[in-house]
Amino acid sequence: MATGHSAGVFDALYPLVRAGLFCLDPEVAHHLSLAALRLAERSGVLRLACPADELLAPVEVLGLRFPNRVGLAAGMDKAGDTIDALGRLGFGCIEIGTFTPRAQPGNPKPRVFRLVEHEAIINRMGFNNAGIAAGVANARRARTYQGVVGFNIGKNKDTPNEDAAADYLACLRQAYPVADYIAVNLSSPNTPGLRELQSPAACARLLDTLQREQEQLTAAHGKRVPLLFKVAPDLDDAHIRDLAAVFLAGGLDGLIATNTTLDRAAVANHPRATEAGGLSGRPEFHKSTAVLQAFASHLGGRIPIIGVGGISSLEDAQAKLRAGATLVQVYTAFIYQGPGLIRQLARGLAAANPPTMPPQEL
Ligand SMILES: Cc1cc2nc3c(=O)[nH]c(=O)nc-3n(C[C@H](O)[C@H](O)[C@H](O)COP(=O)(O)O)c2cc1C
Repeated sequence: MATGHSAGVFDALYPLVRAGLFCLDPEVAHHLSLAALRLAERSGVLRLACPADELLAPVEVLGLRFPNRVGLAAGMDKAGDTIDALGRLGFGCIEIGTFTPRAQPGNPKPRVFRLVEHEAIINRMGFNNAGIAAGVANARRARTYQGVVGFNIGKNKDTPNEDAAADYLACLRQAYPVADYIAVNLSSPNTPGLRELQSPAACARLLDTLQREQEQLTAAHGKRVPLLFKVAPDLDDAHIRDLAAVFLAGGLDGLIATNTTLDRAAVANHPRATEAGGLSGRPEFHKSTAVLQAFASHLGGRIPIIGVGGISSLEDAQAKLRAGATLVQVYTAFIYQGPGLIRQLARGLAAANPPTMPPQEL
């Protein structure tokens, strides 16, 4: 029978597993870990180690039932082929992608760097992915996961910004029948020019275009899939205020704050600090949370926010909720601390913020 004890053994082993993985190149370690998780899922080991019902503390947000408040941020399951296995670890939500319309290789390697002393990562992956059609096919193969699956979508590197809307539309149309929500990624620092789509005028245009399509797709598929925009933490107060006004005027369904940062102040003396790309993990927490808080104060609770960026403890996750988030996501601290962190966050948030739905309604 599945017990919390077996999960405990699993967690106790993680420092050893991590020591092995950290001897490898970060991307090799990434692929190996996901392959091992898929194998453990297929063989039934994960089911034994991770009791599924233990982390039920359902909340209703965006018209969706989230089994708990802790999600996996985009970029770990870039292909959407590890949903069931990752789901066993307790995530209430898994955001897959980023997907672009066409497959693309991403930037030259190496393109991921660990800053171990800071529990941080710098990455400049550049939307390496097999394309939205492959992502949809993979997600359709998920069988056991009961949580929320978000599709994170972007544009191909060789698509000029003037044509970006067509890329997002292509991804939206294909993901729509399978997705629980769509995250529109405007904030990766690794696709040249992408963040320019965060200008208030460009955002307003894109939101309008995507919402028109969303309306048609709602009618065609008989379900309404919420649209969320994922923003960068590198925005000043005036920019945040203007964007919030655009989101409120347009009736955006939800916001994901934030992506990785270009700011290196918190890791200034680290030998890897000058690597190009986005910084994630602990050193991003304060900046990311300040931006979340600024958005929340402008949005006044009218648009739900998923808080992500630098969460590495229950205290951090609680701080995101206090700053105005309803749900949280993690990525980097999951790599550093392992699956025990997910259970710790899900349980801790459930205890401090009672579920808004009875478990049996899931
Ligand atoms: C290696 C790596 C790849 C990522 N890829 C994506 C991506 O494809 N799309 C995206 O929206 N965010 C991506 N992110 C950003 C995360 O989703 C998240 O917003 C960011 O890492 C901050 O959270 P964290 O501090 O918990 O890692 C990536 C992050 C890392 C570390």
